Amino acid sequence: MSSHRTWGGTIRKLWPKEQEKFRDHLLRLDKESRRLRFAHGVSDSFIEEYASRMGEMGSIVYAYIEDGEVRGAAELKKLGDTWGKEAEAAFSVEMAFQEHGIGTDLMGRVIRAARNRGVQHLYMSCLAENAKMQTIARKHEASLRFEYGDVVGEIVPQGPNYFSILAEAMDDRAGYLMAVLDITTRIPKAA
Ligand SMILES: CC(C)(COP(=O)(O)OP(=O)(O)OC[C@H]1O[C@@H](n2cnc3c(N)ncnc32)[C@H](O)[C@@H]1OP(=O)(O)O)[C@@H](O)C(=O)NCCC(=O)NCCS
Repeated sequence: MSSHRTWGGTIRKLWPKEQEKFRDHLLRLDKESRRLRFAHGVSDSFIEEYASRMGEMGSIVYAYIEDGEVRGAAELKKLGDTWGKEAEAAFSVEMAFQEHGIGTDLMGRVIRAARNRGVQHLYMSCLAENAKMQTIARKHEASLRFEYGDVVGEIVPQGPNYFSILAEAMDDRAGYLMAVLDITTRIPKAA
């Protein structure tokens, strides 16, 4: 199936305080998606622990949100204490939301965020066996390069430029407004 952009939710960065939504998304992944995301089968308690460290690790998490729930996520992780030339990326989209172009959009945002932080090499340990990820990576080949069949895929973003920084900043501003809306719609109205 062709994954044209047919989704109706929003994609924005998650705030550290939204780690529960991130956790619930990861817990909803079916068995095979969980295995592909974490490179092996993982338990619910592993996911709970992993999601609880989202803020601490200083990762950037982009999320696809529909009706207040995170249905897809892309994580950009530092490999050291600060942003360096290398970072790691990981993606997850719940089964019912796959093949609608969400993973492709998430990868574009992760590449831009990586570029804006001076990252030159972006590792995705899932590429070797993951045909969908290879398809998505190929769609971004203007911005990245990777070895097909390698255990670790390497992405080489171009350096940051005025437009890529401005685009992320404008996206963040829109994301901030959406986050406020998501939060205020969850606050019960006073009687
Ligand atoms: C990999 C994943 C993130 C992709 O998300 P997604 O929203 O389904 O991706 P998209 O819809 O943007 O793109 C998927 C592409 O793969 C293609 N595809 C589907 N099945 C395929 C297959 N067996 N072989 C090759 N390509 C395939 C789709 O047709 C689509 O390409 P198109 O837009 O040219 O038609 C999602 O499937 C997922 O979460 N999988 C489980 C976890 C995982 O593998 N994570 C990656 C670990 S880092």
